[in-house]
Amino acid sequence: MANGLRAFDGGVAIVTGAASGIGRAISDALAERGCHVVLADIDLDDAEAAAQQIRERGGRASARRLDVTRFEQVGQVVDQTVDEHGRLDYVFNNAGIGVGGEVVDHTVEAWNQIIGVNLLGVIHGVQCAYPAMIRQGFGHIVNTASIAGLVAPPGMTSYTTTKHAVVGLSKALRIEAHARGIRVSVLCPGVIRTPLLQGGRHGIFLVPLPEGRARELVNEYFERLRPMPAPTFARKALDQIARGRAVIIIPTWWKIAWWLERASPSLMLYLLRRGYERNRTFMTSASPPTGSLAR
Ligand code: NAI
Repeated sequence: MANGLRAFDGGVAIVTGAASGIGRAISDALAERGCHVVLADIDLDDAEAAAQQIRERGGRASARRLDVTRFEQVGQVVDQTVDEHGRLDYVFNNAGIGVGGEVVDHTVEAWNQIIGVNLLGVIHGVQCAYPAMIRQGFGHIVNTASIAGLVAPPGMTSYTTTKHAVVGLSKALRIEAHARGIRVSVLCPGVIRTPLLQGGRHGIFLVPLPEGRARELVNEYFERLRPMPAPTFARKALDQIARGRAVIIIPTWWKIAWWLERASPSLMLYLLRRGYERNRTFMTSASPPTGSLAR
C-alpha cells in the first residue's frame, strides 16, 4: 500500500521523452537512486534500449511507447503504472521539441505541433497524474520548461511561448497542489548537450539550414553558451527536486539571466536584441520556408 513520497529509493517514476537527452539522463539518475523508472517515449526502440541498459546495471526500468500529444495514451501509461506498482511518486513531463525560425516563417501547423508536444504534452501529464497522486495522497510533478520560459529569446519564439506557459502552469499548480500534499517543480535548463541543440529527432528548422557554414554557426552559438552534459544536469536536478525546489535553473550561472529579467526587463530586451542581431544569420534566409510544415 502506498504511504508517502519516496525520494527516490523505492519510488516509482514516469519520465516522458526518456529515449534521449535530458529524459534519458534523468531516468538513469533516478534508477541509480533506487527508483523504478517507466521510460515513455514516442521512439519505443530507443526507450527500450535505455531501459535495458538500466536493468543491466542492476536498476529497475520498463519502457512504454507514448505520444504525449495523445491524452488517452498518457492516461493509459499512468493507469498501468499505478496498477502495476501500486504507487506513482514522480511524473517528469519532459518530452519536448524545438522549432527554429522566426515567426514570419512559422505556419499554423508548426505552432500546433510545438504547442501539442511542449505544452499540451505537459498538460496531459498533469491531468492524468495529478488525480492519481491526489487519490494516493502524495506525489511530485516535475515539468521541463527552459530558461526560455523565464526570459524570451527570439528566433525560436514558438518554443519560448510554450516554455513560458509551462512555467506559469507549474507555478500556479504548485500553490493549488500544496494544499493536497502534492509537490510541483519546474526545470529550467540553460543549454544542455543533447540532440535538441541540432534540432532533435522530432524538431524542425522552418528555414532549412544550408549545408556547411550555417550548421557550424549553430554549433558555435551553442558552444559559446557552454552546454552542460546531460548526466551532470540530471544529478543536480534530482538533488534540487529532492529538496522540493519550485523553479530549478541549471547550470546555476543562468540564474543571472533570470535575475536581470526581473531587475530590468528593458535592459534584458536590449541585450537579447543585441545578441540576436549578431547571431540571426542562421535563423533567417532570403528563401521562403520549404520545411515539411511550411505552406
Ligand atoms: P532530445 O531531443 O534529446 O529528447 C527529447 C525526447 O522527447 C526524444 O526522445 C523524443 O523522441 C521525445 N519526444 C518528442 N516528441 C514526443 C512526443 N510527442 N511524445 C513522446 N515523446 C516525444 O531533447 P532534450 O534536450 O533532452 O529535451 C528534453 C526537454 O528539455 C525538452 O522539453 C526541451 O525543451 C527541454 N530543454 C532542453 C534544453 C537543452 O539545451 N537541451 C534546454 C532547455 C530545455
